[in-house]
Amino acid sequence: MEVDVTIFEMGPRDGLQNESNFIKTLDKIKLVNLLSTSGIRKIETASFVSSKWVPQMADGEKVMAGIQRQSGVSFTALTPNKQGLERAIKAKADEIAVFGSASEGFSKANINKSVSESLQIFRPIVKAAPMPVRGYISCITDCPYDGPTNPADVIKVGEELLDMGCYEISLGDTLGSATPETTQKLMSALSSAFKTKDLALHFHDTKGRAIENINMSLDFGISTFDSSIAGLGGCPYAPGAKGNVSTESVIEFLESKGLRTGVDMEKIKEAAEFARSLRQ
Ligand code: HMG
Ligand code: MG
Repeated sequence: MEVDVTIFEMGPRDGLQNESNFIKTLDKIKLVNLLSTSGIRKIETASFVSSKWVPQMADGEKVMAGIQRQSGVSFTALTPNKQGLERAIKAKADEIAVFGSASEGFSKANINKSVSESLQIFRPIVKAAPMPVRGYISCITDCPYDGPTNPADVIKVGEELLDMGCYEISLGDTLGSATPETTQKLMSALSSAFKTKDLALHFHDTKGRAIENINMSLDFGISTFDSSIAGLGGCPYAPGAKGNVSTESVIEFLESKGLRTGVDMEKIKEAAEFARSLRQ
């Protein structure tokens, strides 16, 4: 089916990574299976990071082995380093993502590396990866440690990620504090540096403004948005940040504007109900 906007589902990864009680592997698998039959074509399914840093994601291999693969759906995974890439290859991830930051404070807290150290680690991973690689940039407007972000720092990291071979940059409003005004300022700066087809937006919804920010991003030609079923989530290294904007609300909003997402709302509601039941 033709779509106008691609929904990149974050629930099984960004959504669950911050849950304090360990979610059973079979429940993670069930959530992915509900999502993969809804018409969503990109699902971040696992995170091959250190289990000391994010224990909730320790069963990534089992989740990847247990899900039902659907043709036309990419099951993707986060990989911070070589070890992550090796795990992702073995687990047959269709796509991986390296994740950097525009700000030093978050980079250090999240992956224990400076921004430039992280880029040096990512370059050989992107080169060696046999599958497509997405690149995240966190803290696009604000950092929990360093305060407001200069758009020039987002551009610098984005240019490096594209240059090393990432097929798309996902711009992370990690704190969920972006507003239509800060989004507009950022997108105006970015639209002279990048092609909009290379950019996706990843809004957390801490302040409840994500839909307005998506609306603003549409004006700049953005056509890929990250969202999380039932709005699950938060980042362990961004204190106070809430989950990604909910997949249901993004689909409802886009469809109300006449934009096709290719997603079956009934199936999404079923997945959302199950996702809510996992939350303690
Ligand atoms: P480190 O401690 O500096 O690294 O962590 P290290 O290389 O010294 O390794 C420490 C231990 O971890 C070693 O084990 C390694 O083997 C192991 P030990 O010898 O102590 O037993 N290790 C691994 N194990 C499994 N898989 C791996 C791996 N790598 C090392 N890939 C590291 C550095 C990057 C590993 C760590 O900081 C880490 O895992 N960080 C991930 C944090 C994370 O997952 N954050 C959340 C995701 S990012 C996010 O949510 C933002 C996003 O949504 C966008 C947005 O909203 O802005 C994407
Ligand atoms: Mg996130």
